[in-house]
Amino acid sequence: MINENTNANELEAARQLGFINELRARFELEYQKTGRRKTYHIETFGCQMNAHDSEKMSGILKQIGYVETDTEDADFVLYNTCTVRENANNRVYGRLGTLGTIKKNHPGMIVALCGCMMQEEAVVEKIKTSFPFVDIIFGTHNIFKLAELIQTHLDSDRMIIDLWKDTDLIVENLPNDRKYPFKAGVNIMFGCNNFCSYCIVPYVRGRERSRNPQDIINEIKALAADGVIEVMLLGQNVNSYGKTLEKPVSFAQLLEQVEKIDGIERIRFMTSHPKDLSDELIEVMKNSKKICRHLHLPLQSGSSRLLKLMNRRYTKEDYLSLVEKIRNAMPDISLTTDIIVGFPGETEEDFEDTLDVVRRVGFDSAFTFIYSKRAGTPAATMKEQVDEELAKERFNRLLKEIQQSCTIASGRHVHSWQKVLVEEVNRQDPDYLTGRLSNNILVHFAGDKSLIGKIVDVYLEESKGFYYMGRL
Ligand code: SAH
Ligand code: SF4
Ligand code: F3S
Repeated sequence: MINENTNANELEAARQLGFINELRARFELEYQKTGRRKTYHIETFGCQMNAHDSEKMSGILKQIGYVETDTEDADFVLYNTCTVRENANNRVYGRLGTLGTIKKNHPGMIVALCGCMMQEEAVVEKIKTSFPFVDIIFGTHNIFKLAELIQTHLDSDRMIIDLWKDTDLIVENLPNDRKYPFKAGVNIMFGCNNFCSYCIVPYVRGRERSRNPQDIINEIKALAADGVIEVMLLGQNVNSYGKTLEKPVSFAQLLEQVEKIDGIERIRFMTSHPKDLSDELIEVMKNSKKICRHLHLPLQSGSSRLLKLMNRRYTKEDYLSLVEKIRNAMPDISLTTDIIVGFPGETEEDFEDTLDVVRRVGFDSAFTFIYSKRAGTPAATMKEQVDEELAKERFNRLLKEIQQSCTIASGRHVHSWQKVLVEEVNRQDPDYLTGRLSNNILVHFAGDKSLIGKIVDVYLEESKGFYYMGRL
């Protein structure tokens, strides 16, 4: 499969490995002198895409010779930022204040910022003036350059700013440091072309680009060989995967190929945009033994009028009939969603429509957000911005509704045997383990930590709303 960018991508990967190796040699020399390895700390804000990017950067840092530490008093501190809502930005500014004080007492400390927030010019201007101690700023398109940026900074000792507006480079085969040995995220596409009117992601993540199916399959095969049994395929809108490839491939076809990989026992993906969820995908999911019984299907609003203003390109009725089709094919599927309240112009009637959909669908869980105005998006200039107090009041009403319907929905599996992937020792009680059902709900049960990373049969004894208590 020859892609016009294949060469550029491979050349870039080779260049970056060069920087990694140079720094590694340099750090090794320093280690021989000081007897101390340099430490790094990454703080990740935002979504799974960011979390996965952080794993990649962690891989690069480890390869260079840094060792990870869980405090911010480290030789290299990286904030991988999010800008989807205003409070995400505020958290970063708050943390940066403290970090400045830590840096004063830590000679040689390097502070780097990357991620979605850095793709906004106004943010970078603010950082330059308010937080001049920051050493490196880069964005979402060039995380693979981390080693090169560190090298440039070490050689020049000035603030390095490297921001790309967009890219069509997809650099493969750089290091990656997984958080769990048995499960892994895999990017299948980058960027977003949907331009929902409230959303900043298309501006900070660039145009939609799909990875070559063969590169994805090769990565997953290598992960399986390395002990991974569950993969999470990542993209802002996985249902439109492959449309822009030279040889178009559908998301459902990609899933069929992943299904064939020996060793992979569970396949998850996120996020699905309702407008692009195909019958073919439902069919493939239904017939699959590995694709998990879970769909995250962001609703955003139940009002067709608002959905139009949001540029979501489906109506309330479309959404409900899609849910019906999915449930008919897979009655046991778990559905989760994202909802925004207080979008400009939202009336009581619009909001009632959202409550109505929540009641009718019975989501297993829902992430709810108060609309946050993002500069540069079409919704930011809409005249009828909703009063903050009113939005908060609706938000609380929505939460109540969701809590009720979630308890009912997730209680339906109680007193059944389920396959559970054991993920970790329970954080509250070391005699207990925590694992995940196919439908993504957590279960806690007594067991030995040797089971971590294995799929076991667990009897669900009690439903606690968002999780179960069970026994092996
Ligand atoms: N690509 C995913 C969503 C990514 S952002 C999708 O299309 O579903 C995650 C969630 O953040 C969105 O689903 C939306 O509910 C919320 N969100 C995005 N922009 C927002 C804004 N300006 N204010 C409040 N919530 C927002
Ligand atoms: Fe944002 Fe819409 Fe793209 Fe999701 S699909 S990332 S909500 S623009
Ligand atoms: Fe935030 Fe960027 Fe994800 S804005 S939600 S980290 S794509």
